[in-house]
Amino acid sequence: MDARNEPEPCREQDKGLFEITQRDGAARIGRLHSKHGAITTPMLLPVINPNIRTIEPREMWEKYGIEALITNSYVIWKHEDLRSQALSNGIHSLLDFPGAVVTDSGTFQSYVYGDVEVGPEEIVTFQRDMGVDIGTMLDVFGRPDMTREQLEGAVDETANRAIPSLSVAGNEMLLNGPIQGGTHADLRAKSSLLMGSAENEGRGFAVHPIGGIVPLMEQQRYRELFEILLASKSNLPPDRPVHFFGCGHPMLFPMAIALGVDMFDSAAYAIFARDDRLLTPEGTVKLGGIQEWPFHSHALFGTTPQNVREMEKDERSIILAKHNLEVTQAELSRCREAIRNGTIWELAEKRSHASPHLREAFVWVQEQLDDPDEGPVGDSVLRMIASTNPLRAGGEGLGEEIDFRPHILHIQALLATRWRVPGSWWDSSAGPPERVLLIEGAPPPWRVTALGSVIEKIAEEPRTVVMISTPIGLIPFSLEDLSPWCHLTGPDWIWGPIFDDHEVLGALEEFGLSDIPLVRIAPRDEAEEHSEAIGVREWLDRCSVVDKLALLCAINPSEGCKMTNEMTSRRSRTDRVVNVNSGGKHILSPRLTDGGISLTTHGASIANELNPSPIPEFGSSEEDSAFPGIPRVCIIDDAVPFVGKGRNVMHGYISGADSHLTPGQPCIVVDSNGSLVAHGTPITTHLEMSSLRKGVAVKVREGAMKLDQ
Ligand code: GUN
Repeated sequence: MDARNEPEPCREQDKGLFEITQRDGAARIGRLHSKHGAITTPMLLPVINPNIRTIEPREMWEKYGIEALITNSYVIWKHEDLRSQALSNGIHSLLDFPGAVVTDSGTFQSYVYGDVEVGPEEIVTFQRDMGVDIGTMLDVFGRPDMTREQLEGAVDETANRAIPSLSVAGNEMLLNGPIQGGTHADLRAKSSLLMGSAENEGRGFAVHPIGGIVPLMEQQRYRELFEILLASKSNLPPDRPVHFFGCGHPMLFPMAIALGVDMFDSAAYAIFARDDRLLTPEGTVKLGGIQEWPFHSHALFGTTPQNVREMEKDERSIILAKHNLEVTQAELSRCREAIRNGTIWELAEKRSHASPHLREAFVWVQEQLDDPDEGPVGDSVLRMIASTNPLRAGGEGLGEEIDFRPHILHIQALLATRWRVPGSWWDSSAGPPERVLLIEGAPPPWRVTALGSVIEKIAEEPRTVVMISTPIGLIPFSLEDLSPWCHLTGPDWIWGPIFDDHEVLGALEEFGLSDIPLVRIAPRDEAEEHSEAIGVREWLDRCSVVDKLALLCAINPSEGCKMTNEMTSRRSRTDRVVNVNSGGKHILSPRLTDGGISLTTHGASIANELNPSPIPEFGSSEEDSAFPGIPRVCIIDDAVPFVGKGRNVMHGYISGADSHLTPGQPCIVVDSNGSLVAHGTPITTHLEMSSLRKGVAVKVREGAMKLDQ
């Protein structure tokens, strides 16, 4: 294998900036920019003990793709020879590592040994003088068994040290600002607020580790661990990575990442190896008891457990440490890939079965998602659901826990708050519905399996609301091609009928439809050709567009009707609507992959004119309405010529964004007068847009300025 190149230093103005390139709810793929290269997150910082280098840092860089590692500055400070080498040649030379070097401060030693011999400013100065990329202030370790008073003391004293530490860290070194507070959600939220807002000469912390959690992990108190995480995240600035201090067991990665952890660090790969234990994503396995490898790795390829047991202790530790590091890295790759394809929650769900303690924690998070507590944990959970793209391309396996997945909860919430009964019917009459038709026992695509029966019934009684029974609840026929509903996979019986009368009535009540006559049918394959078919079909198409504009773009259905006045459409060879025109002009296209919609510039311009709310500004409050209008991102004047020609909206050029902006769903970009500049798809939320300073905020589909202007 070719040796990996040296890292590319970041631009001076980018140092310490974090950018989000992809996301799945709270889980995000990020890049943290440092003088020794960009660090792609979520990632693990392997712990290097400068006295015992089980795997050489250079080998980690070259063979394992490790972009950053962590070592302990206090250990170096205590050893005279290491200290003088580090101060004269720098930490990168001492470790022989070209990537980013993170150091810890001695806090953990104070937890283990009771005290340290170094002061808060002295240890930060020392880290700075060794040329560390990201140092750590000397925080006060809050043990979970401390009294509330003691924990409050740890939070306050850590916060008191924040500004002096930032001050001595200077311009060159980035700094970790740890969050303490034991298992008290309110203290974690307070610590996050204090540490997140601490600044010296305009510089704050670059990363926020969640500290004091090692005892919880040792005791497998995972429910409290994740409660702490959610409480801390409620107040942390969204433009800074979150680090889980001392967490390195791959079993915990998917769930931690799904809830928003960006960095891990651990010596587990080496410590477990010394103890003849193998890490796997499903727990730990003892070398002593196995005949075959539970997980394969390059390190163990061609060996057997017996071969390894017969090795000398040192050789054995090294080969097992390499295996453990590979398994750890592979699980992180799996997590990053799951973020890219929108399945991080499913991965966390799967891994939760690895241990009963982890399962307890996962079930607790599901309960929070279903019915969030008041307070910081509930705030984080609600924010997580709102930041999750409700639509998914491709199939999704049906499982018992599917109802708790954040994207499903999000689309269900949108359906409950933004769907309305049609304002007028196929025959142009207005008024309330006369009946509900429930389609059961038919698999998707329903436009194929049920259309004939639906047309027949609507022609018979125009004031019919058509609903479909899906394994995860009832949906209006107008949303029949929206994924996840139409892309669920499972055995045939899931397409029912699966709900009893009581369940159906309960579901119809949610839509306000439980008081009108209900007809339940299984569609027939060969419905009669109907003379009214074309007219009914056109009305159904229009309902579909109006309902999707309501659900996904927050456009009031009455405005959606105006937008689709004189609607015509073009269909594909598979009989799906591909272009929607209004008044003869193309306004939007249904997205065939997930059933969502893509606006055209003309459509975006109409949606903008229909939005009466004031132009969004960060910090101003918004009206609370089910239909606040197409979400907008307002950019500063300097960016208008670029975005207007189709360039993406970059963080740092945004002056406001509507709070109902949803990553992955359409938004428009406006200037400070509210004029349309472009339209596209946001990657980040309005909160993230208000603080991030690097990376793409909105992927622009098209600029509204003509290219020749
Ligand atoms: N390593 C593990 N836990 C902690 C912590 O709470 N603070 C610091 N500085 N390092 C840690």
